[in-house]
Amino acid sequence: MTPAAPNGEKNFKRYTVTSALPYANGPVHIGHLAGVYVPADIYARYLRSRGEDVVFIGGSDEHGVPITIKARKEGITPQDVVDKYHTMIKDSFEKFGISFDVYSRTSAPIHHETASAFFKKLNQSGKLSEKETEQFYDEANKQFLADRYITGTCPHCSFEKAYGDQCENCGTSLSPTDLINPKSVLSGNNPVMRKTRHWYLPLQDYEPMLRQWILEGHKHDWKSNVYGQCKSWIDQGLQPRAVTRDLDWGVKVPVEGAEGKVLYVWFDAPIGYISATREWAEATGNNWEPYWKDKESKLVHFIGKDNIVFHCIIFPSMLHAEGSYILPENVPANEFLNLEGDKISTSRNWAVWLHEYLEEFPGQQDVLRYVLCAAAPETKDNDFTWKDFQARNNSELLAIFGNFVNRTLVLTQKYFDGKVPGRNELTDYDKEVLEQMKRFPGSIAKSLESYRFREALNELMNLARLGNKYLTDNEPWKIFKQDPERVKTILNINLQICASLAVLSEPFLPFTSDKLFKMLSLDNLLWDRAGESDLLNAGHQIAEPHLLFEKIEDEKIQQQVDKLINTRKANEEEENSKVEDFNEDISYEDFMKMDLRVATIMAAEKVAKTKKLLKLTLETGLGQRTVVSGIAEYYKPEDIIGKQVVLLANLTPKNIKGIESHGMILMASGNNGELSFVQPDKMVANGGIIS
Ligand code: MF3
Ligand code: ZN
Repeated sequence: MTPAAPNGEKNFKRYTVTSALPYANGPVHIGHLAGVYVPADIYARYLRSRGEDVVFIGGSDEHGVPITIKARKEGITPQDVVDKYHTMIKDSFEKFGISFDVYSRTSAPIHHETASAFFKKLNQSGKLSEKETEQFYDEANKQFLADRYITGTCPHCSFEKAYGDQCENCGTSLSPTDLINPKSVLSGNNPVMRKTRHWYLPLQDYEPMLRQWILEGHKHDWKSNVYGQCKSWIDQGLQPRAVTRDLDWGVKVPVEGAEGKVLYVWFDAPIGYISATREWAEATGNNWEPYWKDKESKLVHFIGKDNIVFHCIIFPSMLHAEGSYILPENVPANEFLNLEGDKISTSRNWAVWLHEYLEEFPGQQDVLRYVLCAAAPETKDNDFTWKDFQARNNSELLAIFGNFVNRTLVLTQKYFDGKVPGRNELTDYDKEVLEQMKRFPGSIAKSLESYRFREALNELMNLARLGNKYLTDNEPWKIFKQDPERVKTILNINLQICASLAVLSEPFLPFTSDKLFKMLSLDNLLWDRAGESDLLNAGHQIAEPHLLFEKIEDEKIQQQVDKLINTRKANEEEENSKVEDFNEDISYEDFMKMDLRVATIMAAEKVAKTKKLLKLTLETGLGQRTVVSGIAEYYKPEDIIGKQVVLLANLTPKNIKGIESHGMILMASGNNGELSFVQPDKMVANGGIIS
């Protein structure tokens, strides 16, 4: 069946829906679900419900440097790491009803074969260039330092722990040589430069194609965050991108003499979508090729915003270079989900882990799916809070959807022994409700096809609201005695709404939908049947009703909040007990270059329009000096007059806020960065030398 194309869009024969392959170096959390897997699953389920031909692809991304670093730290092999997390992630997705047609992994032989063949084809057809460059090398560990094996200071935001491929503070993508003061993650040493050969994808060759395809072709149907990022990348000018690395974990570069080199993880991982499709096709007796090569297939990538350039610029350039593939029709990337006001962080354990939720809220997967869809970070970052989770369960799912269904089914049991009553003469209100019901499959579909999942879910709830209001307005329990015929009509209409809810809720709340179909003794129906007024015929026997949702009590929520409070405390304690590593050794001569002297503060005042700066006048024994010092948050000017301090006297003078500052005062920093003066412990004459 072909759905009516919304807004005059073209119709497609089949759909290839991919969801970002999560790195198998940790479990998955609510951020993953909200950003990628819940929307992707809703979309895939919806398409299936329209009777479409869909393949929904997932899998684990098992290569890349972070996995090897984790293995090193834990003293196990990278394969051990990915085996553990692949199994865990797969299990969590299954339990949350993420309905992949295949959940593969990039360590699978079929993937190595597919990625390898893809590279070979590009290389043999002259689509890659080979270049010798100098790259960072760790002499102690005898290893090149690709991507996350190197850290240093970000040239854009001065964040000190930026990686060789990206600064996680400002999000800029970097190459190792951009880093200031680069250090090897393996040894902590400063790396040396060494020659090495690599293969590059000349992205600049695809600029015209990308401009036409994205900037002209998708200006109006791609999300503005996605379009904006693409435009800024293209406008900045595209550069050749290295697609190989000197590492031993990954897909081997299939060229003679390329020992010790593998494909860059962002080259092989998206090919993982293709490998997974092949795996699915082999297992089910399908042909994978039309899903990737036929122009009448619609390819859609669900991802988070940090993946945009890879899916919109690099992978499409690879597909285009290969020559036989289609390009994605849309890449509905989401922003990020925060947790209780803070960025979700694996290393700080600031997350709600899916495997833990499953233990703590057994059977309540749909509640989390609901909350994450209702509060999805579709157009901006959004916050998950346990209070909101509770409120959405208790006052939306339970009070509207659950309550409506339950009252309808219980009354049907009570008055009619669970047999669907027939309708009698219809009032205007009845007709109006039956009429309104009809619009829901279309209106929800329209939102879904524009990737507006929050809006779609709200519209689903509007159907439940419609039913709830109709039931409450008609109060069948009050009129049953004097007018049972009227009650038959009311309950019949309510039951039809329940049946429509079962159909239309399936993409969002698959477990609930399944229960509802069972309680109605109805087989699954396709999407377009929803809204019909005779999904349940008079006389049809329904089953025992059960509650669809449970109230979530305050204590349950408090437990979760407490758990996070404890995490926060543990993190703070750890932060505070962290002692910075020593710097590299320097020579005695280097030290002796510093002229350190005892001086006394004679006057102090705040520097206007600054928060941190004090202007200090010092007696140095050789005359007075002015020094501007960033200590205003820790000392009041009037409290420090007469204090002896240590002055680095021969620091080149510098103009700070219009004041000539000559020298620097030595300060000790405490656990939280608070500063205190370094002082001689007896009075010393000003000008006394420190050595
Ligand atoms: N592993 C990546 C991440 O978690 C996503 C890879 S998507 C793929 O950010 F296309 F490369 F598979
Ligand atoms: Zn930065």
